[in-house]
Amino acid sequence: MTSGNLIRMGGGGDTDRLPGFEMYRLSTTEGRLLADGLRQFQVFTDGQFPQDVGRQSLLAQIVAEKLLAHAAPGLGRLMEKARDDLVDCIYVTNLPAERSTTSLLLLTLSSAIGKVFNYGSQDGGELGMEVTSSQNKAAGQRAELDWHTEGASIRRECRAEWICLLGIDNTTGIYTAYSPVKPVEQTLSSRTRAWLFSQSACFRTPYGSASDENSWSAPSAVLSRSPHGCTEIVWPSFAVRAAISDDALYTDALIELAAEINRQHLRVSVDAGCFLAFNNLRGVHMHGPTGDGYRLFLKTYVRHSLRTLQQVTGESGPIFALTEAGASQQNPPPRGGSNHMGSAMTRSSRRTSAEAQSAVWTAISMGHRYAESG
Ligand SMILES: [Fe+2]
Repeated sequence: MTSGNLIRMGGGGDTDRLPGFEMYRLSTTEGRLLADGLRQFQVFTDGQFPQDVGRQSLLAQIVAEKLLAHAAPGLGRLMEKARDDLVDCIYVTNLPAERSTTSLLLLTLSSAIGKVFNYGSQDGGELGMEVTSSQNKAAGQRAELDWHTEGASIRRECRAEWICLLGIDNTTGIYTAYSPVKPVEQTLSSRTRAWLFSQSACFRTPYGSASDENSWSAPSAVLSRSPHGCTEIVWPSFAVRAAISDDALYTDALIELAAEINRQHLRVSVDAGCFLAFNNLRGVHMHGPTGDGYRLFLKTYVRHSLRTLQQVTGESGPIFALTEAGASQQNPPPRGGSNHMGSAMTRSSRRTSAEAQSAVWTAISMGHRYAESG
């Protein structure tokens, strides 16, 4: 195991200081066995990665079951840890980088964690989404360059639990970063922690306008506890604002949260042959700027269970006709505090457009203030 592609961590270079993170470097023999196995399994589909997403998913599940543990037992054990939620982030290097088997490799590794799926609205409904740095520069994708979780408007039971990335091309020095929220939470002041756990924030829906009240979610908590007691975070980078207009705590709380995230995170380069998987409920991620360089990776969404997605859409998957904006309407009202929510929404709706604009806290501005502090 080496840290050759590990660029650095916020606050130091010791990976032991980031709980929930594990990395694995395949040996040359493991890499060869995996590459041979991927090619052989693809022979059954005429040497091509299947076009049909159902067949893609099935093939990947078979390969994950039959090949991984045999070709690279250490990698198989690490994937099990991710599947059992014993880790928040895994980073694997020295994987086969043959372009002809890249899609199968990504889906195989993703299938070892859980069920691979996608929303029909995203990337034409492909399971493996191609993401390039040129897309990052587009207006709708700038959020990727700042700390965020994905699917904030989608109810938890339908949101991606794990996000998996497999590098294809990456200019030296370009990084992707992840910060698990548990160690961050432990260092927050009690005042900030209380604010983040209460329904104090509203999130702007994707592509909504800051001045349109309909573009904002009901008051929600940034931090919450999972059914198993883990700390979870919802953090859409595009915009967060206080639920009430005269909230004196919210700027300080978000500044403190951003500062702690910048202090406690991991940066890795998702180069060709590198796989990064991180939990989207228990941490935030971002992609570093590319400058004049270039980045290309494939990405998947993974959940342990697709049952609620199947119930909500009436489809079997693995592609579901669910848009982020549509899914937000399926959100159940926040637990408890209905009076609070009502009053907050009423007060919120009295804002003038200028007040609403000035109340918008974008993570982009937060990123600029703290970009180099990690
Ligand atoms: Fe993202």
